[in-house]
Amino acid sequence: MSFLSKSLERVKPSPTIAVTTMAAELKAAGRDVIGLGAGEPDFDTPQNIKDAGIAAITAGKTKYTAPDGIPELKQAICDKLKRDNGLEYVPAQVSVGTGGKQILYNALMATLNAGDEVVIPAPYWVSYPDMVLLAGGEPVAVEASLETNFKITPQQLEAAITPKTKWFIFNSPSNPTGAGYTRDELKGLTDVLLRHPHVWVMTDDMYEHLVYDDYEFCTPAQVEPKLYDRTLTCNGVSKAYAMTGWRIGYAAGPKELIGAMRKIQSQSTSNPCTISQWAAIEALNGPQDFIATNNEMFKRRRDLVVSMLSAIDGVTCPVPEGAFYVYPSIAGLIGKTSKGGTVIADDEAFAKALLEETGVAVVFGAAFGLSPCFRVSYATSDANLTEACTRIQDFCAALT
Ligand SMILES: Cc1ncc(COP(=O)(O)O)c(C=O)c1O
Repeated sequence: MSFLSKSLERVKPSPTIAVTTMAAELKAAGRDVIGLGAGEPDFDTPQNIKDAGIAAITAGKTKYTAPDGIPELKQAICDKLKRDNGLEYVPAQVSVGTGGKQILYNALMATLNAGDEVVIPAPYWVSYPDMVLLAGGEPVAVEASLETNFKITPQQLEAAITPKTKWFIFNSPSNPTGAGYTRDELKGLTDVLLRHPHVWVMTDDMYEHLVYDDYEFCTPAQVEPKLYDRTLTCNGVSKAYAMTGWRIGYAAGPKELIGAMRKIQSQSTSNPCTISQWAAIEALNGPQDFIATNNEMFKRRRDLVVSMLSAIDGVTCPVPEGAFYVYPSIAGLIGKTSKGGTVIADDEAFAKALLEETGVAVVFGAAFGLSPCFRVSYATSDANLTEACTRIQDFCAALT
């Protein structure tokens, strides 16, 4: 009998980490590798936020705090939700965790029983299904199509809901596609949820601020206030404020659920890093103008990558509304053979051959539950992107 738990058998290791590891090994062996796999901004945490962290250390704010966050940060989160999303919350409805990841995990652990179903639009962020499995639930993937720019339809959501459905996980703009639902598109989904009062909404708004052109971010409880009492609005400072390593995420929702999440956190990790909490207050309350400046840069990179990848025969690359990812389809390349002799049987074979033959690291679509595609993170320099996309173009042109 294995020493390891049965629940661990249900979970697979993160495929994004596998790609990063393989790229690191090639790099260590002296190969010229360009990584387009990273899920984090390539710029530094803004100085005012770093200074707030330093000030917290100097002031001795280095001890334990309440397990789910200091009151000052909870208040800053309430103010942010009111200001940006028109949502009214009080601090007792807020939980702060070690990154958005812990928040989502706590919520699933706090609510799922064996056999409970969680509806997840695919392609999805890799951790959702495995977190559901670890918590004993059953992920139910709903596959979005390229034709709808990777957004699911109300009909698809309706068809996926059963009496066992506990949560609907919503993520817009999305990792891995960058797709952002418009208010009307989201209203279509919230209308379906109104008809199923037993289903709760876990919305992961992590990429809220990374939006381009005239796309306007919206979140379920704002679009349909009748869902307020069964919505957990999750967010964090990792992406917009380039604070991935500081590890602060948060959620706002019904008090009972927030209390249950606190219970889990208090018996696992206790409070998120005290210094990071003080820095997160500065992120939320401080100047926000650098976001627009960064978004100009991200938009330029998105346009560069979309135009270079769209120019490839057999590749279709929708223009995403937000985040820093594109998710091209390689349906037109399946069955071809690379210069190095690899048959492109699926997107995993494509990503592997691309890395081995050109040194460009991307994540294959199967990891995100929708094939045949791959994810490019454009959170890297224009020079890197141009070089990487040129190599992808040459690799594809050489397929026979
Ligand atoms: C959609 C989405 N949600 C949550 C997270 C987790 O964020 P954090 O680093 O704050 O745990 C990520 C990180 O990649 C993400 O892409």
